[in-house]
Amino acid sequence: MFEKLFSPIKIRGMELKNRVILPAMGTKFAGKASYVTPQLVNYHVARVRGGCGLNIVEVCSVHSPSAPRGFLSISEDAYIPGLKSLTDAIHAEGGKAGLQLWQGSLAVGMDQTAQILVASDMPVSPQMTIPGITKQQIIEITDCFGRAAARAVKAGFDCVEFHCAHNYLPHSFLSGGINHRTDEYGGSFENRARFPLACICAIRANIPEDMPVLMRIDAHDDYFEGGLTIEEVIDFCKLAGEAGVDVLDISRGNILSAGLKYEVPPVDIPRAFNMSQEEYRKAAVGAVKKLSQDVGILKRCAIRRFITPRQRSAMKMFRN
Ligand SMILES: Cc1cc2nc3c(=O)[nH]c(=O)nc-3n(C[C@H](O)[C@H](O)[C@H](O)COP(=O)(O)O)c2cc1C
Repeated sequence: MFEKLFSPIKIRGMELKNRVILPAMGTKFAGKASYVTPQLVNYHVARVRGGCGLNIVEVCSVHSPSAPRGFLSISEDAYIPGLKSLTDAIHAEGGKAGLQLWQGSLAVGMDQTAQILVASDMPVSPQMTIPGITKQQIIEITDCFGRAAARAVKAGFDCVEFHCAHNYLPHSFLSGGINHRTDEYGGSFENRARFPLACICAIRANIPEDMPVLMRIDAHDDYFEGGLTIEEVIDFCKLAGEAGVDVLDISRGNILSAGLKYEVPPVDIPRAFNMSQEEYRKAAVGAVKKLSQDVGILKRCAIRRFITPRQRSAMKMFRN
């Protein structure tokens, strides 16, 4: 385990010094106008100095009208220089940088100026229903994922991560518990997969061949009637692999139910809460195996779940 963990790995053209990966975490360090700040740069530099081989930079909006203020954005060229200063700082310390490409669906409602986009009509009160996005908007957002990926390349990122989890827009389309459309983007599994797969294709078409694409995906939908099963998620991961995804970043939880605790775990959630579920673990590892030849990539938190206390003390070198 540790031989793999601390040895380099190459994924397409990206070479990591080790397999310790900082998962995306919203820091609220982006300025109100969604630009990179010195505080965000310092935070990432500290993680690289602490030993991370790859930092995945937090949720970053791809579409201007639905971009919440206070969260990073890459929806316009104007954001490129700030993001480039972040990747330059990470590279200067010997790390690699990935960017999480995001359309937040309902979650952008934290900023009342941001347009809320949902997969299908969503009643929020007896008087009000948020309309599902039109086909034209589907094409627009797909295009925005592609353009954002192209900007990420210009900003110096070594890889990008497609956010297809946590009830954000691509995951909302994929999940039968959320997507109640009756057109070719809803209903059957194939139809629900259409939009997220189109986004992956758009991303792949706008980045160099040797740049890896990661995908954040929930292993299944917690507490959701009609939500995604592990089997459906594995099937989708195979399709995503064909569309251009190289690495799975398996997560869990959603913002529409008590499953939120698995997405942003409070301190009283037991350690290894995911790994105690044998079928979840098998699904995650099984899906990764199908996509990647090397299952040695484990993010820092996942590692904690596998190791003994004595081994854990070896991890203290990762102080940041
Ligand atoms: C404050 C906070 C912000 C987070 N922001 C993001 C994010 O931007 N993107 C994302 O995919 N996950 C985000 N997460 C989820 C984490 O990446 C991670 O999956 C979660 O903390 C569970 O970690 P574990 O499964 O490794 O225990 C966030 C979690 C926390 C606690």
